[in-house]
Amino acid sequence: MTSTSPSQSTPANRGVAFQDALQVAAGIAAYSPSSHNCQPWGVGWATGAAARHSAAALLAETAEQNGADYGATQDEVEYLVLALDHERQLTALASHRVEMLVSCGAYGEILLRALAAQGWRADRVHFVAPTPAAHGPKDDDPGRIFGGRWPSAWVPLCVVRLSPAHTPSSDLAELRDTVRARHTNRGPYRPGRIDPAVLAGLSTSRSALSLFRAAPGDSEVTVRHVVADAERAAVAGLVSRHGGRDFSHRAAWRETHSFIRRDDADAESSGDGFTLGQLFGPLSWPRRFGMRIALAPATMRILRHVGYHRILARQLAAMVRRSPAAVALCLDDEAPGAGSVVRGGAVLADYWLGATRAGLVLHPVSVILQHDDVRAELEQRLGLSGRAFFVSRLGRAVTEFPPSRRLTASRVQRLV
Ligand SMILES: Cc1cc2nc3c(=O)[nH]c(=O)nc-3n(C[C@H](O)[C@H](O)[C@H](O)COP(=O)(O)O)c2cc1C
Repeated sequence: MTSTSPSQSTPANRGVAFQDALQVAAGIAAYSPSSHNCQPWGVGWATGAAARHSAAALLAETAEQNGADYGATQDEVEYLVLALDHERQLTALASHRVEMLVSCGAYGEILLRALAAQGWRADRVHFVAPTPAAHGPKDDDPGRIFGGRWPSAWVPLCVVRLSPAHTPSSDLAELRDTVRARHTNRGPYRPGRIDPAVLAGLSTSRSALSLFRAAPGDSEVTVRHVVADAERAAVAGLVSRHGGRDFSHRAAWRETHSFIRRDDADAESSGDGFTLGQLFGPLSWPRRFGMRIALAPATMRILRHVGYHRILARQLAAMVRRSPAAVALCLDDEAPGAGSVVRGGAVLADYWLGATRAGLVLHPVSVILQHDDVRAELEQRLGLSGRAFFVSRLGRAVTEFPPSRRLTASRVQRLV
C-alpha cells in the first residue's frame, strides 16, 4: 500500500489482520495473466469515511436487488474496489477493452481467492459500469465517490465486501503454488488426446465456482473445448487467414512491440511485458538478434509488403493445428456489459488454474477475437452462442516457459 495506516475498522480479535491478508493476497494475484502482461488493474482498499460510505451504499443497492441479507455489522467488514487503470490499458484496438476487463476480472478472482484462503470471505459484490471512454477518465469520473485519494486514472469496476470467516476457504500455499506454476506456454504441445474426463471436469459449473457469483439474469459463461480434427482445423484456418492482422496493423503492432523487453534485466526493471524468450521459447543469440530486427515496427512495415505477417500467421496456425485441443470461453449475451466481462475474466482465472492443476498449459490466440468479422466466423464455425471472449490452445507442455515479470504489488494498490 502507499500508506501503512491501518484500517479504521479492524477489530483486534481477527485471526489475520486484513492489511496483512491483503498484502499476501496481492502478492499472489500479481501473477495473474493479462493481455501483453500490461497488468491494467488497480485495487482501492476503502479505509476513509467517504470511500467506506460510498462502498456500503453501492452494496446496499445490490442487496436490495438480490434480496440478500448477510447480517454482518459495518465495523466487521472491509471493502475493496477493483479498478481498470487507464494508464496501463491497451488501446490500439477497440476489442482491447474486452481483454482489459477480462484481465481485471482474472486478477480480482485470484485476489479474492487468496483472501478467502486467509479467512476473508467476499459476501457481496456490486459492479459499477465504467465510463465508455477508452483513453481517459471523464469529468463525471465515477471514482470520485470514493473520495480524494482515488487515483484519477482508475475507473472503478466493482466493489466487494469482505467479512471475516471462521475458517479459510482453501489451502493458501496450494493456491500460491498453482498461481506461480501457471505460465502462458507458446511452445509446441505433446501429441495425443487429453483425457475427456479432465476436459469435462474443467468445463462444469465454472460460473458457480467464481467468487464473483452471478446474480439471477446475469450473463453466464460457457466453456467449449475444441478437440475434433475438423474443428481444430477450422480454428487453425482462421488463424492462418487472419492472424497476420496484428502484425500488419500499425498501431496495434506498435503497441504490442512496446511490451517486448530487450532482455530479462529490461523486463525486471519495467515489471511488465515479455521477452523474446517468453514469446518464442529459448532462442540462440543470433536468432534472438534477427527476431529483434524483424519484429521492430519499422522493419515490420517493410516486411509486410513481402507477406512476412502472413508467414508468422501460418506458423501460429500450424501450432494451433498440432495442439491436441483449443478452448473457447463465451458469454451468453452477444453484447455483454462490463460487469459480465469482468466476471468472464474471473471464470477464466478459475479455468486456467484448474488446467494448471491438471498438468495442462494454455496459449491464448486472441487475434481471432479482435476483429468482429473473424470472431463472428469463429462463433459460427464452432456453433457458439453469445460472444466468445477468450480462445486459446490447450495441451501438455514439451518445454517449460520462463515466468514473466510483474509490477510490485504496491504499484497497484491504494488506500482510498
Ligand atoms: C485476455 C488475455 C488475452 C491474451 N491474449 C494473448 C495472445 O493473443 N497471445 C499470446 O501469446 N498471449 C496472450 N495472453 C497471455 C498474456 O500475454 C500473458 O498472460 C502475459 O504475458 C503474462 O504471462 P504469463 O501468463 O506467462 O504469466 C493473453 C492473456 C489474457 C489474460
